[in-house]
Formats: sequence, structure tokens, C-alpha cells
Amino acid sequence: MIDPLAALKLPDILPGWVWLVGAGPGDPGLITALGLKAITQADVILHDALVDEALLALAPGEKIYAGKRAGVRSCRQDEISDMLVRLAKEEKRVLRLKGGDPFVFGRGGEEAQALVRACVPFRIVPGITAGIGGLAYAGIPLTHRDTNHAVTFITGHGSDGNLTRLDWDAVSRGAPTLVFYMARKFAGEIADALMGAGRRPDEPAAIVANAARPDQDVRITTLGGLAEAAQTAPALAIIVVGENVALARELAWLAKV
Ligand SMILES: C[S@@+](CC[C@H](N)C(=O)[O-])C[C@H]1O[C@@H](n2cnc3c(N)ncnc32)[C@H](O)[C@@H]1O
Repeated sequence: MIDPLAALKLPDILPGWVWLVGAGPGDPGLITALGLKAITQADVILHDALVDEALLALAPGEKIYAGKRAGVRSCRQDEISDMLVRLAKEEKRVLRLKGGDPFVFGRGGEEAQALVRACVPFRIVPGITAGIGGLAYAGIPLTHRDTNHAVTFITGHGSDGNLTRLDWDAVSRGAPTLVFYMARKFAGEIADALMGAGRRPDEPAAIVANAARPDQDVRITTLGGLAEAAQTAPALAIIVVGENVALARELAWLAKV
């Protein structure tokens, strides 16, 4: 029988290297072949809370939790970067495993900068980001010829913990489809800002929570109804605003299985 990972002749993580790998939005089947191979090879894995347990269970190496979760002290970003450097200097094969894509609102860039400064060799293995894969699992095409030719990805959460400071007129006039990460608690403020900048209250909107996970929770609403829909939605959520959201009524394949 063919071993697909061997047949692909993928590179190995070498001692002293760090791989920054995206695990995808939830479903363990969405990790890349490179990421999967790295899990089976790494001496040590620093992972965050969004990584599926089934993937971690495949890892023979040491697992270090380095994420945020209620009741567990979260590592500071500089502590994580320092740990990556130290482990690599100890000639370990180091895997930094993050939910989604490491370079999409994931601080992968900061970790890569720390590795560059410390002269540690590294590789980036992209993952499927929640704002793409999560929407696909909700039956929402990110782009569709009839609805939108552009998309904007936005973080709702600024580094000060408040709603990101944005030019809402520009955001509103920009892409027809807006995808917000880390935004559920600001859903009402975002909807008000967009409607204040001219977007229609009856424009389709959705909250896609726990996307690509067994407890996926999709709420299709309107911009005007977003605040209310967000009140009881799970915290791990993507908010999407745009006419493409209406296609979910036809294309929500997971809900029909
Ligand atoms: C710190 S960001 C990490 C994003 C990640 N790097 C990515 O590419 O998806 C965390 C935010 O991503 C979104 N997110 C990640 N996984 C998700 C999922 N399975 N379902 C819904 N939203 C998700 C949420 O908006 C969450 O607050």
C-alpha cells in the first residue's frame, strides 16, 4: 500500500529548524500534507488552543501549550518567540502549530521576525484560514461572480482590546464582502459603523462560529440583525457581511448531510 506522505517526497524538519505551520480552522483533515508530516517528526510542538486534539494525538514529540484559554495563563508573545529560539538552538526539530494560517491575524510574522533576528532557520507552512475555510464549511463562497469581485479581511480586535480603529467610510465603500475576525463582541458596533457609512440594514450577514468543528454554528441574518444574532453566538466566530452570504441558503452542504 502506498504511504502518501512518503510518496510525495516532502522535506523533513531538520534539527535546529523551526517550522511555523497552520493547522486550518478546525477539521483536522484540513491541515496540509507538509503540516501533517511535520507533526509526526517534530521533537517539540508549541501549539495554540485552536489546534484539534486529533492532530496533537499524532505527535510523538513533546507538546507545549502556548495559547489563550479561559483559566489557563497565556504565554506572552515574547515568551513564545524566545522559547522557539531556545529550542532551535538546542538542535531540536521545532514545530509551531497555529490555528488557521500563521500569517493571518496569527502573529506568525512576529515569530518569524524573532527567528530571523536570532539567525534560526525556519519554514512557513500556510494553513487554511478561518475566513476562507470556515465560510466554505458554512456554504458561503468567499467570492461569487454575481455578488462580489473583492473581499476585505479585518480584525475587529485592536491591540488595545477595543474595536479596531478604522476609516468606516473607506471600509464600507471598499469591497462588497467584509470578513471580520475576533469581532463577535463588537458585532453591534461594527454593524452600526457600517450602516452609518451607508451599508444597507437588510444586507445579508452571517456569524460563523466554531467553523469546521463538530459544533459549527451558523447564523444567517442581516446587517441590521447582527447585534442580536451575536448575543448568543459562541465566541470563536467569523462575521461576514455581503450579498454572497445569501448563497448559504442554497449551498449549506454541511447542514444537509
Ligand atoms: C487570533 S485569530 C487567529 C486566526 C487564524 N490564524 C486563522 O487564520 O484563521 C482568532 C480568530 O480567528 C477566528 N477563528 C479561528 N478559528 C475559527 C473557527 N473554527 N471558527 C470561527 N472563527 C474562527 C475567530 O474570529 C477568532 O477570534
